[in-house]
Amino acid sequence: MATSASATARAGVLREAIELHNYRYYVLDAPEIPDAEYDRLFRELQQLELQYPELLTADSPTQRVGGAPLPEFEEVQHAVPMLSLNNAFDEDEVRAFDRRVHEALGVAQADGVGYAAELKLDGLAVSLLYENGVFVRGATRGDGVNGENVTANLRTIRTIPLRLAGPDVPERIDVRGEVLILKTDFKKLNHHQRDKGEKEFVNPRNAAAGALRQLDSRITASRPLAFFAYGVGVLEGVSAPRTHGMLLDYLARLRFPVNQERRVVRGVEGMLDYYRTVGSHRAALPCDIDGVVYKVNDLAAQRELGYVARAPRFAIAHKFPAEEALSVVQAIEVQVGRTGALTPVARLKPVFVGGVTVTNATLHNLDQVRAKDVREGDTVYVRRAGDVIPEVARVLTEHRPAHTSMPQFEMPVRCPVCGSRVERVESEAVYRCTGGLYCPAQRKQALLHFASRRAMDIEGLGEKIVDQLVDNDIVRTPADLYKLGLAALAGLERMAEKSAGNVRAAIDRSRRTTLARFIFALGIYHVGEEIAKLLAAHFGSVQAVMAADWEALIAEKERVQKENARRTRKGETLLEPVLPGVGPEIMRSAGHFFAQTHNREVIEQLLAAGVAPETLPQRQASAGALSGKTFVLTGTLPTLTRDEAKARIEAKGGKVSGSVSKKSHYVVAGEDAGSKLTKAQELGVAVLDEKGLTDLLGQ
Ligand code: IVH
Repeated sequence: MATSASATARAGVLREAIELHNYRYYVLDAPEIPDAEYDRLFRELQQLELQYPELLTADSPTQRVGGAPLPEFEEVQHAVPMLSLNNAFDEDEVRAFDRRVHEALGVAQADGVGYAAELKLDGLAVSLLYENGVFVRGATRGDGVNGENVTANLRTIRTIPLRLAGPDVPERIDVRGEVLILKTDFKKLNHHQRDKGEKEFVNPRNAAAGALRQLDSRITASRPLAFFAYGVGVLEGVSAPRTHGMLLDYLARLRFPVNQERRVVRGVEGMLDYYRTVGSHRAALPCDIDGVVYKVNDLAAQRELGYVARAPRFAIAHKFPAEEALSVVQAIEVQVGRTGALTPVARLKPVFVGGVTVTNATLHNLDQVRAKDVREGDTVYVRRAGDVIPEVARVLTEHRPAHTSMPQFEMPVRCPVCGSRVERVESEAVYRCTGGLYCPAQRKQALLHFASRRAMDIEGLGEKIVDQLVDNDIVRTPADLYKLGLAALAGLERMAEKSAGNVRAAIDRSRRTTLARFIFALGIYHVGEEIAKLLAAHFGSVQAVMAADWEALIAEKERVQKENARRTRKGETLLEPVLPGVGPEIMRSAGHFFAQTHNREVIEQLLAAGVAPETLPQRQASAGALSGKTFVLTGTLPTLTRDEAKARIEAKGGKVSGSVSKKSHYVVAGEDAGSKLTKAQELGVAVLDEKGLTDLLGQ
């Protein structure tokens, strides 16, 4: 069946429309139709091509998805060689370049040559050949004379036009430009790699290079490649533009993506000004660059200057300091931040990167260390972009001896600064020192929190004072604040006599406070204002909080929670919850805090210094003869089952706990009572048999 003329025409219309919308979407970032409409056009074209396979052409937008793998790349010869650029590493070299240009062109220095200044994109150079407006061949630079035919791969890049449109389509054009991956796309790509459990890419450039050299173009299609045009090799069938700037304008009209950070400048000061401007916002640019390029703007002047060896005399690359460099990890240490968070840090063999010498690089957290598998002795890529903290970007595992004896990095169990227990925050990648008030690394933070308005409310004790007090080792813990003499305060920098007196008075005033504020002020992890209020209401006094058996409380809390869950299902009446509103996680955190001797010491010192949180009457757990009493059941009782015994104790307001501690009031022991009985005897807890229990219940 002959292809109907209308189908041919329709396919042409669809291709043109799709390419236009592609251009608006990917290059201009200004789509004018909804995605769904675009998809509809696309599907219609796919349908047509399926129905009339003879309509299918290589330049159809449906062919961007990649095709069957190639056995190898074909070698192609560039009609015009792809040369490289000479580099300038400092201002003097740029000035020397400018002088040479002026001399060769016979232009007076004062007149200043016009230069096209643009970004030196950090990707891979490619050549795109179009004949009568159709993309026929794309190639890598290779050795400059011969490259590899990567047409199928380049076709998958949405921003590369497959067919040129407009009034001045040339007969033949060889567009030169850079293939790269934008920083945001690179982050997403690596995120994906991580999710799939696959190796992450070292940097956007490597990822782009890998994608471009895939024999299977379907893989290339799945990688977010971008393209920017910066020049032409061959140009036939149209009158050549007069300047490089106009040439780029022309390419943009043909719908090639041209980077907009370009400018035409005059003389050496113009070039250096451009360099500094670009350098100042390098980190904020959407893609990696390794410098800027200056090209004599006038194309006739370019021809006059010509080439020397394999680089043009009319252009030069002015390089920025590299943002990545190789170094060796000499040790992995752990730093403790102001909030107690532990950060692994790599001590590095000094390396010059991003314009400075770097000796330390952050590894962020344990997950990152594991993901990157960084070990001592490893050769690593160090990255420092803009003002950001230097980081270890990647390990060169191929440089690690196959049988390295270096173990995987482990987080310490004790804080390297104060020796307190380190705790991993569930659901966070962060490990934290539990030292709180005591840990020197956390001192300033802890003191500021202690003095803050919602805590002890010590007006005037701000950051500047705390910094000096801690740095000069005048104050270590909050208790030390109450020993501060007026002289010590007045001796601080920028502290007038009057404000020293005010601070002193504010410290004195803070002695009288509420128990909730006091508990909140301690800076217990997870214990915010609301939880502090609940704890204060429950315990009533500092002494009661300190004396609490947190382990037993947690065990009880969890038992009641479980039991109540069961009762809810069964529709039975619920037991009274333990410390309502305070979850086991928070209780554990409080338990850790009060278990640390140094924390207890600070509290004792605070009390000794006259800090007097108000004592509230202790909340009655529940009415009943056994209210407030804790029982532990063990062994088999002669008549009562364990559940019955428990129910009867609870009916009288008593509590049943699963473990014996010195806070237990009674252990009820039956036959075959085991370790719980022994423990009760050791701790001197009263032991009852069934008779003793029923007597107590009968009271
Ligand atoms: S012009 C004859 N312009 O730098 C001049 N090159 O060392 C040919 N590059 O392989 C290059 N951005 O990959 C030019 N705006 C730019 C560039 C640029 C990056 C790369 C290109 C080339 C290398 C030259």
